[in-house]
Amino acid sequence: MKPAFAAFAAAICLLAGASFAPASAAAADAASARDTLRENNCFRCHAFKKEKDGPTWYKVAEKYRGRADAEERLVRHLSGKGVALFADGHEEKHRAIKPGWWNGENEIRNLVQWILSL
Ligand code: HEC
Repeated sequence: MKPAFAAFAAAICLLAGASFAPASAAAADAASARDTLRENNCFRCHAFKKEKDGPTWYKVAEKYRGRADAEERLVRHLSGKGVALFADGHEEKHRAIKPGWWNGENEIRNLVQWILSL
C-alpha cells in the first residue's frame, strides 16, 4: 500500500513538473505574456504596430534575433535594472515587472521568450 502510494505521488509530481516546464523550455505561454504586459501597463509605451515612446514588440524581437545573450539581457532589463532612453534624449529607469501570482522570475522569463519568438 505505502510504496504504491509513493509511486503514485511521484508520478503526480512528475506530471505537475512537466506541465510547468514549457515556461522555461519550449514555447512561451502567449496568453500569460499578454496578461503580464497588460497588468504592468507596458502598452503605454510599447505596441505591436505603432511606435510609441518605446520600440514595438516586433522591433525588440528583431534587434535581438540570433543573439545568444538576448534572454538574459532582457530578463535583466525587466527586473529593475533597465534604462529607457527616450527619443528626446532623456533617460529614465525602465519600468520593472511586478511579479504576479504565478511567480516572479518565471513570469518575466516567459514574457521575454514570447517577445523573442515574435
Ligand atoms: C514610460 C514608457 C515605458 C513603459 C511604461 C515601458 N517601457 Fe519598455 N521601453 C521604453 C523605452 C523608451 C525603451 C527604449 C530603451 C532604449 O532603447 O534604450 C524601452 C525598451 C524596452 C525593451 C527593449 C530593451 C532593449 O534592450 O532593447 C523591452 C523588451 C521593453 N521596453 C519592455 C517593456 C515591458 C515588458 C514593459 C512593461 C513592464 C515596458 N517595457 C514598459 C519605454 C517604456
